[in-house]
Amino acid sequence: MHISVYNPKGGVGKTTVAIQLAAALSLICQHVVLVDHDPQASALTFSALAQAAGHTLPFVTTNAVPSGFEVYVHDFPSVLRMDFPGRLVIMPTLLDATSFIPYMRARHFVEDQGMEVIAVGNRYRPDRAEQKALAKRINGWLVNDRATIANAFGKGKSIFAMGGVRAAAAQAEINRILASIDLPVRRFA
Ligand SMILES: Nc1ncnc2c1ncn2[C@@H]1O[C@H](COP(=O)(O)OP(=O)(O)OP(=O)(O)O)[C@@H](O)[C@H]1O
Ligand SMILES: [Mg+2]
Repeated sequence: MHISVYNPKGGVGKTTVAIQLAAALSLICQHVVLVDHDPQASALTFSALAQAAGHTLPFVTTNAVPSGFEVYVHDFPSVLRMDFPGRLVIMPTLLDATSFIPYMRARHFVEDQGMEVIAVGNRYRPDRAEQKALAKRINGWLVNDRATIANAFGKGKSIFAMGGVRAAAAQAEINRILASIDLPVRRFA
């Protein structure tokens, strides 16, 4: 199965969400690959950081599309894109005015291609009135703005490789997204 993580807007959390979803998926199914389509190579940088720190990631990261994997998580760059592998697009967006309108447009555009879109309001700050109002309109899931998530990237670890209450709260947010995906794959017992 293919899961595309996409939003033509930059810096909204595509790579972050792709990494965390790949890590969450690796706990429930085998042979997960994270495909980095971005010339910025942020996902590949993350896997290099993991290697440098001596962490073994539970999924493969590559910039090619290899065969033989059960789940492909595609981290796409911030450019307009028409064609997607599979039928599902995860679309992270920030919950501010400059991000929300582009998100709505991109969502309609992608849905017009016949894709299912699952939106993620990322870096959510419930203490900000503007964000709270947009969170009600997103029709998707929310991932809070968490230092744990940003720090995990720099350490080359996913939040699923971290312990503590903060990591557990972040894991729960990612798992909610995952639970909403219909996975036609074998799950671990
Ligand atoms: N939920 C979060 N909490 C805190 N920081 C976050 C969260 N999500 C993303 N970030 C931070 O926001 C920044 C942008 O995230 P990311 O690189 O994933 O966005 P992107 O959409 O992939 O960007 P690009 O368009 O450049 O590919 C990074 O510094 C990342 O650590
Ligand atoms: Mg990215």
